[in-house]
Amino acid sequence: MFRLAALIALAIPFLIFFSSCEHDPEMPAIANGVDSTVCFDNKILPLIQKNCSMSGCHDGSSEFSLNNYQEISGKIVAGNPNSSELYKVITPNKFTNKPSMPPSPKPHLDNADITLIELWILEEANSFSKVVMPVLANNCQSCHSGETPSGNLTLTDYSQIKEAVNTKSLLKHILEQDNYSLMPPSGQLTDCDIAKIKKWISNGLPNN
Ligand code: HEC
Repeated sequence: MFRLAALIALAIPFLIFFSSCEHDPEMPAIANGVDSTVCFDNKILPLIQKNCSMSGCHDGSSEFSLNNYQEISGKIVAGNPNSSELYKVITPNKFTNKPSMPPSPKPHLDNADITLIELWILEEANSFSKVVMPVLANNCQSCHSGETPSGNLTLTDYSQIKEAVNTKSLLKHILEQDNYSLMPPSGQLTDCDIAKIKKWISNGLPNN
């Protein structure tokens, strides 16, 4: 009995470790559409600064400057990596007529970084199904689903979520504004996730 308990105690850190790996936003995000937390300011901008907008490259001395959100997002088509200039040049094997960036002898970006940029471009379209739904699925549905949902509120499809935004002050709950109880109760969503939900709401709740 004691040995079994010790074994379980030993196994727990491993289980936690592996299940947290599963949620690493940088790896399987595109494949399963869940867990999307690419934040421009803390993921994309530093990556571009490190690899592209250093002095003498895309820092403003060339016409293709990549110093800030304005300039970088101007080089993409939101929601469509394959039509995005920025994506084409970093994946020259896919688009053979494109120059390769960063130019040799500098190494290509590694796959994880390319995936991150691809995901960010997809997320810029702020699609409900690819961006907003995963945030709510990960942070709300543990309580707001099933036969007896908390607060008698189910948040598992577009129409329920739209209804909760319009009639149940979903955003105020997320922001803990005007005395609305904080949702999720365990702690506020990240700024990045909040920004995604706000943007979707201010875009008029598109079902895309
Ligand atoms: C740990 C469980 C739990 C999680 C996770 C959770 N909620 Fe809640 N939620 C509740 C409970 C319990 C209530 C009812 C009591 C209250 O309003 O504080 C509630 C109430 C609400 C209400 C008000 C419903 C009404 O009728 O006015 C909204 C809106 C809401 N939650 C949205 C969310 C959103 C959005 C998320 C995720 C970002 C979330 N909740 C995550 C437990 C949870």
